[in-house]
Amino acid sequence: MKIFIDTANIEMIREINSWGILDGVTTNPSLIAKEKTDLRTCVKKISEIVDGPISAEAISLDADGMIKEGRELAKIHKNINVKLPMCIEALKATKVLASENIDVNMTLIFSPHQALLAAKAGARFVSPFVGRLDDIGQVGSELVMQIVTIFRNYRIDTEVIAASIRHPIHALEAAMMGADIATIPYDILKKMVSHPKTDEGIKLFLADYEKSKKS
Ligand code: E4P
Repeated sequence: MKIFIDTANIEMIREINSWGILDGVTTNPSLIAKEKTDLRTCVKKISEIVDGPISAEAISLDADGMIKEGRELAKIHKNINVKLPMCIEALKATKVLASENIDVNMTLIFSPHQALLAAKAGARFVSPFVGRLDDIGQVGSELVMQIVTIFRNYRIDTEVIAASIRHPIHALEAAMMGADIATIPYDILKKMVSHPKTDEGIKLFLADYEKSKKS
């Protein structure tokens, strides 16, 4: 499974990229607003750090506007893909952008039907929102499983990005269910690295090493 970071924070992106595990980045208008920056400046900076897909979200709600924004965003860097919010207008825009080799990440996916339609329109990625489904009492990870199954049944090559990841178990479930990608916030990536038994083991090995030096 590929790992993307879900943030617009440049320092966090730089740090996780330095671990050697980062395959891409997703941003959204809320994440950009948190960093008090603008979309273009932000994704340009990210493209100088990470060599992989970077999602930049369009804010238009009509197909013509989405297409116009998408073309502009794609000009920033070859790795930029255009995030469109799932709706009929976004399907129309996806068809046009895909025909121009501009990658679309269809976001705010909450049902397998939406994912299938987005893929049919030519989206390169679909982003089911796991955590936000959990929030309303549905099992978010089941949606990932349904989409992965449908795409496998029909050999659809649209990639599934498990999004709205809220804890390491979401990341684990995404991997178990065969998501192509999980886009994971910084603090959760940090949690995924550590285990108390690892820390305990390191301490013990160091203590024993010190003892063996003395003998
Ligand atoms: C996905 O691309 C979105 O940016 C993100 O995962 C949304 O997560 P949230 O539900 O925690 O805001």
